[in-house]
Amino acid sequence: MEKITSLAKRRGFVYQSSEIYGGQNGAWDYGPLGVELKNRIAGAWWKEMTRLHDNIVGLDAAILMHPRTWEASGHVENFTDPLVDCKKCKSRFRADQIPQENLAAKKCPDCGGELTDTRKFNLMFKTHIGPAEDTASIIYLRPETAQGIYVNYKNIIQSNRMKIPFGIAQIGKAFRNEIVTKNFIFRTCEFEQMEMQYFVKPGTDEEWFAEWRKQRWAYYEKLGIKMDHLRWHQHGPDELAHYAKDAYDIEYLFPMGWRELEGVHNRTDYDLGRHTQFSGKDLQYIDQDNNNERYIPFIIETSAGLTRNLLMIFCDAYDEELVTPDKNSGSSEGTSSGTASSSDDWRTVLRFHPDLAPVTVAILPLMKKDGLAELAQDIRAELKEDYATDYDQSGAIGRRYRRQDEAGTPFCVTVDYQSKEDGTVTLRFRDSMEQVRVPKAELSARIRQEIKAYKRIK
Ligand code: GAP
Repeated sequence: MEKITSLAKRRGFVYQSSEIYGGQNGAWDYGPLGVELKNRIAGAWWKEMTRLHDNIVGLDAAILMHPRTWEASGHVENFTDPLVDCKKCKSRFRADQIPQENLAAKKCPDCGGELTDTRKFNLMFKTHIGPAEDTASIIYLRPETAQGIYVNYKNIIQSNRMKIPFGIAQIGKAFRNEIVTKNFIFRTCEFEQMEMQYFVKPGTDEEWFAEWRKQRWAYYEKLGIKMDHLRWHQHGPDELAHYAKDAYDIEYLFPMGWRELEGVHNRTDYDLGRHTQFSGKDLQYIDQDNNNERYIPFIIETSAGLTRNLLMIFCDAYDEELVTPDKNSGSSEGTSSGTASSSDDWRTVLRFHPDLAPVTVAILPLMKKDGLAELAQDIRAELKEDYATDYDQSGAIGRRYRRQDEAGTPFCVTVDYQSKEDGTVTLRFRDSMEQVRVPKAELSARIRQEIKAYKRIK
C-alpha cells in the first residue's frame, strides 16, 4: 500500500487533506489526475446504471435532510459501532476489531492497560442548522445517499411516470464518523457513494436480487478488473444491517487483504414502510395496469463506494515491469523517437482501462525545435475535442513515456521529423509499448477503435 500511496501523491492523484496543518484524519483531496479518474469512474457507473437501462433514472438529492429521515431509516438508533478506550494510552478501538481475549480481559492490545466498557458510538456526524445550537436545530450529514432516493420515490413516479420495476441512481458524498480510518482512502469519514435503488413488486425481490448480483459482477468484468481478485461474501445473520433481509458484498483483494468493495442488499419494504410511518404520507405504489393494486415496493440496492472503487482501480492497475532492451528496441521505445535504452529498466505502469484513464492520449514532440512543437500542438488541438489530452515536450522521450505510464495514459502520439514529411505520427501503446505509424488525419478514429477493442494483456 505504501507504493500506491506514494505514487498517488507524487503524480497528483490523492493528497492528504489540509496537509500543511499536519493533515486531517479521514479526509483526502483528489488532485488533477485523481479528480479526472474519479469523474471517469463515476461516469462509467452512471452510464452503466442509467443510460444502459430504460427504466433507471438519476437523482442528485441534498446532503442535508430533515432529521426525521434518520429516525425513520433507523440510523439514529442502530447506526453504531461498539467502541472501547484504553484508560492508560488513550487509544480507541472498535470492539469488534480487537482480539476477543483482550475484550474479555479488558486489556488494551497496544499497551496492556485497562479498557473501558464497550459503548455504542453513533457514526453520524451531527451539527446544527441556523444560529441556535439546541436539540431543535440538530441536523445530520447523510451517512448514505440511499435515503435521498427513498424520500423522492413518489416525486419521481409522478414526474417521470415510472412503472415498477424501476430504479433510481445517485452519486454523492456521504459522511461517517469512522473510529478507525486507515489504509489510505479505503475507509474515510468523508467519501462518495454510487447507489442504485431498484423498486420491485413484493415476491419478485429474490429474483431481482439475483439479477442485480449478476449485473454488478459483469460490470467489473467489463472494466477489465482482475476477476481472480474479486469474490462474493454473503452476510451472516450477525452482519446483516438493520434493514436487510439478505446481503452480499463484492470483495476485492486489496494489498491489505480481502475487503468489501460494494454491497448488494435486499432491503425489503423496510425503508418505504418506515418513511410511511414517520411521515404519515402514503408511499404505496398504485399499479394502474393491474386493477390499481396497491403495495409498498421492496427495494434491491446496489451500493458501491466511489472513492473505494478508485482505490480498487488504482491497486488493480498498478504494475511494475522490467523493460528488457529487446522490448525497448525496434518497434518499441526506439527508432523513430531515437532513444532505445541499452540496459534493463523498470517501469511503473497504471494499466487503467482507456475509458477510465485520466488522460487518454499524450502528445509528445520529439524535439521542441524545427516546427515539431507547433505541429504537435495542432494535433493536440484536434484531439482535444474527442479525448482528454496531455502535452509534454520536456526531457528525453523515453522519460516522457515513463511519466505517461505512471499516469496510466494508454496512448502516446509522438511527432517527429517524418511527421513533417509524410503527415504520419507514431502511436505508442502503454501496455505493450508497441508503436505503429498512423496518418495524423486517422488518429482520432484509430484511437476510438483501439479503445473499443481494448483487452487487458496483464
Ligand atoms: N446504503 C447502503 C450502504 O451505505 P454500506 O455497506 O454501509 O451500505 C456501501 O456502504 C459502500 O460504501 C461500501 O461497500 C463501501 O464501498 C462504501 N463505504 C462505506 N463506508 C465507507 C467509508 N467510511 N469510506 C469509504 N467508503 C465507504
